[in-house]
Order: sequence, then structure tokens, then C-alpha cells
Amino acid sequence: MALNVVVGITGGIAAYKAVNVVRSLVLVGHDVHVVATDAALRFVGRPTLEAISRNPVHSELYEGVAEVRHVAIGQAADLIVIAPATANTIAKLAAGIADDLLGNTVLASTAPLVIAPAMHTEMWQNPATVANIATLRSRGVSVVGPAVGQLTGRDSGPGRLEEPETIVAAALAVYAEHAARLAASGDLSGRRVVVTAGGTREPLDPVRFLGNRSSGRQGVAIAAAARARGADVTLIAAHLEVSPPEGVTLVEASTARELQQAVTDAAADADILVMAAAVADYRPAVVVDSKIKKESQGDTLELSLVKNPDILAELGAARRAGEYPGLRLVGFAAETEPDPAALLELGRAKIARKGADLLVVNRVGWTEGFATDGNSVVVLDGAGDIVSEAAGSKMSVADRILDAIVALD
Ligand code: CTP
Repeated sequence: MALNVVVGITGGIAAYKAVNVVRSLVLVGHDVHVVATDAALRFVGRPTLEAISRNPVHSELYEGVAEVRHVAIGQAADLIVIAPATANTIAKLAAGIADDLLGNTVLASTAPLVIAPAMHTEMWQNPATVANIATLRSRGVSVVGPAVGQLTGRDSGPGRLEEPETIVAAALAVYAEHAARLAASGDLSGRRVVVTAGGTREPLDPVRFLGNRSSGRQGVAIAAAARARGADVTLIAAHLEVSPPEGVTLVEASTARELQQAVTDAAADADILVMAAAVADYRPAVVVDSKIKKESQGDTLELSLVKNPDILAELGAARRAGEYPGLRLVGFAAETEPDPAALLELGRAKIARKGADLLVVNRVGWTEGFATDGNSVVVLDGAGDIVSEAAGSKMSVADRILDAIVALD
């Protein structure tokens, strides 16, 4: 699962090696955002970091103020890795100083923090640094290295930045441990969660269909996160572009009507249903048995479509009529409306129409250019009030959505 990883780079000679830390993380599929101090950018160029990370590099505290970037980057992070971490940065982290973008990012984040110190041996062994490292460790910060070896000058000893592969492996292991610890907290333990994901396809003939571009990533992330939090998960999958997570019961459905059947079967003994799938509202009125031929059509081909059942709205209505007692219903709405207030109004009308407990509204375009590989959502409750806003990797957004569901109890 792609993580949103912030790589903090501070001003030491070893900053050039941070390029390989960024590269290794990108190559294994993570979405990497570099936050560099001004001093770091004297050692390694912004264009290099932007090309390698495939994202803009942030360094200025007073840039991106409208999107509250000084906290947004930290809030969206799943993991923060600072490599190299200079003695000065370590001291600032220990004191909680936020006089630059990196300091703000770290303070605004609840993600695991991994630092890879690099400095001369005397600085590493200085009692101030020793005390600062002890403080950071006591707060749960993971420290990778430093290695012992040749330093920048003629000296050698402890203080050399760990090798980039070692830093990346250690950081990902720290994240895995953190995720496992969260899972062990198990706030969905024993709950039966059904998630629909992907996009339905409505056949026209044996070789063609009407479909949509949903990849299923957000629904799969919700299924994975619910599983990690202890739930018994059924994933109803409509043409996923990503692999389903381990440990869930997988039910494949192709069309809206197949998905409805699968949802109805699974909802009977479910506690929570999350309808993340993009379901076709209409299907061809007639499915032809053999391939539609041009010769039989002429210059235009008219398709007649009939309405599909609205699965969520029907469940909402059934629940109002007393069926499915105790079932929590969560819908999705991906809207293209650019105006935030109008978008929320559409969301409010939709949740009222569907009779769901929560509606996850995708804020398409609100944070363009930032969490490109992630998602940005607003969660509305039945009264149309905002109960949560989340931006970041699809995994972290999944956890915030599950937090909102857990908070309904
Ligand atoms: N949904 C459903 N059955 C359908 C269509 C949608 O259960 N036939 C569910 C989706 O899974 C999603 C929610 O309803 O959770 C909202 O889907 P969306 O396509 O945004 O809404 P529509 O009802 O299609 O409304 P509109 O086309 O007006 O936006």
C-alpha cells in the first residue's frame, strides 16, 4: 500500500545521500514529499530532489499559507524520515522548536518519526547531543545509525550517515510496527464490516461494456484498514485495479445488479457497510447476444439505458422501515463541483436522499498538486454536519473514515 512519506533533509554534507533515500522510497511505490531546510538546499539542488521525488520540494514556512501547508504536510504524512539529521536539527526536535517548515511538519504530525543522524564524532558524542537523542528516543523517535566510518574530512569514527537502503528498510519497519500496534488496539475487533470497491461494468454485448474509471484503491484501503483494526471484513470487488488485501473475504461482482445481490447477502449480518464502489446508475436496456456490427447500425448507434437500482438508497429506505437494525451505512460521493460550499450542499442533499449515517465527499481539486497519489475528503453525518476532514494517502484517509464510523457509537 502506497504510503505518504515525508523525507526531511537538513544541512549536512550527507544531504547528497538523501537523494537515494528518496529514490528508494519512490521506487517501491511510496508518495514522497521532501521538506528541506534552507541549509540542506545549499548541499543538494531542489531540481534534483523534485525530479527524484516526483513532487514539489517544500522549504518555505510562508509559502502555501492558504492551504495551511505548515501543518498540512505533517498531518497528511504516514511516516516522517529525517536524513541526514544534523546536531542542530536534533536539538531543535528535542526542544520542539518550529522555526522552519520541517519543525512545524514534525510537530503537526502523529506519524512515526525516524531520524538518521550525521555529524562529526565530537558533535555526536557531545553531552548536549547525547541528551537530545535520549529525549527523542524516550518520546518514541527511532534513530537509525549513525554508522562508524570515514567522515567528511580526514577523520573517521561514529557520525557517518547510515547507508540509504538501511535507512529506508529501518523506516519502513518502524511504520509496519506502528501499524501493527494500531491494529492490536483493535477498535473494530469482532465487528463485521462490508466494503464495496471498484467500478461496475454493464455489458452491451459479449465484448463491450459501459464502465467508469474507479480503480478501487480507496475502498481496498478501507478494507485493509478495517482488517488491521480487527474487523471481520468482506470486500465486494467490482473490477479492482489493485490487489485485494490479505485476510478479507473476497466476493466478486461485475454489474450493479450483481453488486446489489452481493451487498444484500452480506448486509444481513453486517455491522457496517461502506459503499465505496462506483455503481453504474444506468445499464443498457438490451444486452445483445452477439457482437454489435457496424453494418447493422449505420452512422449512429443509439443506446437505450434503463435505471439500475440505487443500492445504498434502497438499504437506507429498508433501514428506515425497520430492517437491518444496528447496521451502519456509509456512502461515498465524488463530486466535480469546484465551489466548496456548493460541493457540501450537494453532499448534504445526497446523504438525505440515501438515508446513510455518513457520506464521504471527495474534495476533487481542493488540494491539487499536493497529495497527488492520495485523497482528500470531507465526511458528513446524517444531519449534513462535517464530522471529519482528511487528506493524505488513501490508507490514512481510510483510517480517518473508520475513526468517524467508530465515533458514531
Ligand atoms: N450508489 C449505489 N447504487 C447506485 C449508485 C450509487 O449504491 N446505483 C452508491 C455509491 O456506491 C455511493 C453513493 O451511492 O456510495 C453515491 O453515489 P454517486 O454516484 O455519487 O451518487 P448518485 O446516486 O449516482 O447521484 P448523482 O448521479 O446524482 O451524483
